[in-house]
Amino acid sequence: MRSDYCGTLTAKDIDREVTLCGWVDRRRDHGGVIFIDLRDREGIVQVVFDPDTGEHFNLADRVRGEYVLQVTGKVRARDAATVNPNMATGEVEIYGTALSILNEAETTPFPLDSHSSVGEDVRLKFRYLDLRRAEMQKSLRFRSKLTNVVRNYLDEQGFLDIETPILTRATPEGARDYLVPSRTHESKFFALPQSPQLFKQLLMVSGFDRYYQIAKCFRDEDLRADRQPEFTQIDIETSFMDEEGIMSVTEGMVRQLFTQLKDVDLGDFPRMTYAEAMQKYGSDKPDLRIPLELVDVKDLMGEVDFKVFSGPAKDPKGRVTALKVPGGNEKLTRKQIDDYTKFVSIYGAKGLAYIKVNDKNDLEEGLQSPIVKFLPTEARKGILERVEAENGDLIFFGADKATVVSEALGALRCKLGEDLDLYTREWAPLWVVDFPMFEEEDDGSLNSLHHPFTAPSCSPEELAKNPAEALSRAYDMVLNGTELGGGSIRIHNQNMQQAVFRALGIGEEEQREKFGFLLDALKYGAPPHGGLAFGLDRLVMLMVGASSIRDVIAFPKTQSAACVMTDAPGAVDEIQLKELNIRLRKKEKPAAEAKAD
Ligand code: AMO
Ligand code: AMP
Repeated sequence: MRSDYCGTLTAKDIDREVTLCGWVDRRRDHGGVIFIDLRDREGIVQVVFDPDTGEHFNLADRVRGEYVLQVTGKVRARDAATVNPNMATGEVEIYGTALSILNEAETTPFPLDSHSSVGEDVRLKFRYLDLRRAEMQKSLRFRSKLTNVVRNYLDEQGFLDIETPILTRATPEGARDYLVPSRTHESKFFALPQSPQLFKQLLMVSGFDRYYQIAKCFRDEDLRADRQPEFTQIDIETSFMDEEGIMSVTEGMVRQLFTQLKDVDLGDFPRMTYAEAMQKYGSDKPDLRIPLELVDVKDLMGEVDFKVFSGPAKDPKGRVTALKVPGGNEKLTRKQIDDYTKFVSIYGAKGLAYIKVNDKNDLEEGLQSPIVKFLPTEARKGILERVEAENGDLIFFGADKATVVSEALGALRCKLGEDLDLYTREWAPLWVVDFPMFEEEDDGSLNSLHHPFTAPSCSPEELAKNPAEALSRAYDMVLNGTELGGGSIRIHNQNMQQAVFRALGIGEEEQREKFGFLLDALKYGAPPHGGLAFGLDRLVMLMVGASSIRDVIAFPKTQSAACVMTDAPGAVDEIQLKELNIRLRKKEKPAAEAKAD
């Protein structure tokens, strides 16, 4: 039906006769001549119809925005005065000789130009129209190119693309499962995979050696700007490779993506231990574009007459830390400080003490702060020295349980970086290594920090003795404060796997019921293996500079995990439920509402 894409025509095509198909981006009537901007996935070209073309001109007069047209015409140079340097096809136009309207269109519910400020709900309800916008076309094309580079890279490195099931058992990655009831097995459910983790490990047992898959994962968890209930991983597993080997192959892949698709050299990625990341940045995914660091002052605060500080300072699980903002005295108003105090409260911080350093040499009058009166001169001096304060700096403080302080001041650090535009470079990748095996809940129970198949750095005996202190052989790749991917060396022997299950409080019976197949597989010659999975959507989001993961997924879910276009999840009819042996429990209505019925 067509000879060319609209968006690809240039001066090289002058004098060619072309046939194009596309949508009417804009139609203008210029004193008897009709201009149509015709758009397809490659871009826009201007088509001109003048009255000499008779019936075609009359048709051109009828077309409206988003009509679908087939146009035949000759490519010609535009007059110097009408060349549009902002358009890829801006040097040429099509002198139309034939036109047919392939389909009409009603006025769209929102204008499709990229500047329109339509609510996301409307965009998602009419996603098929939203996707016509140049921005969305660009992101999805980029995504397609990216997966292509990934496939080529991994193929060259000898990785095999193998699919794993979607209807499966629970694969624990820390979120809730999406369940699918089975019709043929009464009262039983499949779970959609949170990741292909166990299957890829079993493929290693089968000898496939190097596996990858661009895999859909499903997690029922609270959504944020960089999370979706259904998302895609670049999932990788290898045998006979240690941490170094795996980090090197996967780092190579990300570096190649950046050079090939963005012409950016990321260089070698630095390594940082989890402990250092938490200490300096309050986060296991530090944004190293921001030069601010947390500086602990716990040891200086044990004896001060200010409970907010001395309490956590004396508590082994407490943390008292300072965050210096160079020049912050000038940059931050009282109102901003109040806003930051509210901001840290989201993370459970009960306040945000601060000191403005007017004159660092005058410890009595030179410090401006609601708390300085509680601090003896020695402590003031200690703080200023520790953070290397200069006149004009502002120092924030967090004091509480270490988890609260790290999270709150870690987040404040990133917020300050953004608000004050403190970024020192565009891209800051790194590896975070030496994670703890487990995190401790308030009731003393342990949870896997990654997943229960991650190998510890110690023996099963040492793990049993002191599980809370054990480190794992896991590694995360972080870019600009986002966790792009995570992986580990896996447990490949049954003993060790059971030691980890025991530490997690998973008894023999539950082990057999849930993971019997894995424990069995580990008995039959499982090779040492490990791998990693990248969040593909997150990677694309960062590379195209989108602010939401939804902007790089064709048909994403809303914040409340729904699809407003198809109205999913939807109700099912009684017959279907009966076949599945499911009876829905009526939700109890609140008393007042029930009475009103
Ligand atoms: P993990 O749970 O760390 O590891 O996931 C790997 C990467 O997937 C991305 N990701 C998400 N992206 C969008 N929405 C979500 N809800 C979401 N959850 C995770 C992140 C993350 O780094 N099986 C292991 C990997 C392994 O050990 O090989 C796993 O799934 O970018
Ligand atoms: P208060 O004694 O609660 O009025 O707090 C005095 C100052 O300490 C205020 O500036 C608070 O914002 C700050 N503050 C209170 N609790 C904390 C905390 N846990 N960490 C840091 N600063 C705090």
